[in-house]
Amino acid sequence: MAAIEREPYASTLTPLVAQPIARWSNGAVTTLTRPSLDLYDSWARCVADFGPGHIPAAAMWLLDREPDISREYCAALIKAVEKVADTSQPTRDGVVHADSYWVTEDQVVIGFLQLRHTLNDYLLEEGGHIGYSIRPTYRRRGHATRALGLALDRARELRLDRVLVTCDDGNLISAKTIESQGGVLEDVRADKRRYWITL
Ligand SMILES: CC(C)(COP(=O)(O)OP(=O)(O)OC[C@H]1O[C@@H](n2cnc3c(N)ncnc32)[C@H](O)[C@@H]1OP(=O)(O)O)[C@@H](O)C(=O)NCCC(=O)NCCS
Repeated sequence: MAAIEREPYASTLTPLVAQPIARWSNGAVTTLTRPSLDLYDSWARCVADFGPGHIPAAAMWLLDREPDISREYCAALIKAVEKVADTSQPTRDGVVHADSYWVTEDQVVIGFLQLRHTLNDYLLEEGGHIGYSIRPTYRRRGHATRALGLALDRARELRLDRVLVTCDDGNLISAKTIESQGGVLEDVRADKRRYWITL
């Protein structure tokens, strides 16, 4: 197993939700953390760990530019996700309000999770309410399972009755993750398995 990176404790992290947001299992703590420049170095290492290509739930599509791991890009991304999370303001066309989190373990950014508050046509067909990804060097430790569980707690806070979670038809690991959190398969559309989780 790859060495686990350790980073200085960042004291100014603010959780996006008031309730406890970490769960413990087999020694690993999984936390959903509000994106913050305090964790910039770790965010950059996390993005680099994923390598080139699309990173599910990292919300980079919100910026209409080529992603990079500069501090300036990270700051712009944080601003963009904060705007989309702000339910007091309308979102731009085609974008629904959503909470974006960095999945963290001991102040290390180990992945991404996004919880969409509502579904538009595309999200109902393919995207779902919740998307997530865990960086390659931190997989197989239950982080995705616990992060999804925490997102369900947040969805309950938002008073959603049920959430749609989807994955590629061939993504057996993600399917297992969703099923472990109560996902019931409705159907497969556009090569996506569509699961509903009752809250
Ligand atoms: C899918 C993904 C998020 C899983 O993250 P993870 O933290 O490794 O997942 P977990 O450790 O919580 O494991 C979830 C389940 O899959 C199983 N699993 C994980 N990796 C596995 C592997 N390589 N082979 C077989 N089973 C595996 C685990 O055993 C667990 O099942 P269990 O609860 O029955 O033991 C991660 O692989 C990833 O980021 N993939 C790329 C992005 C992606 O596919 N995102 C999902 C889009 S919806």
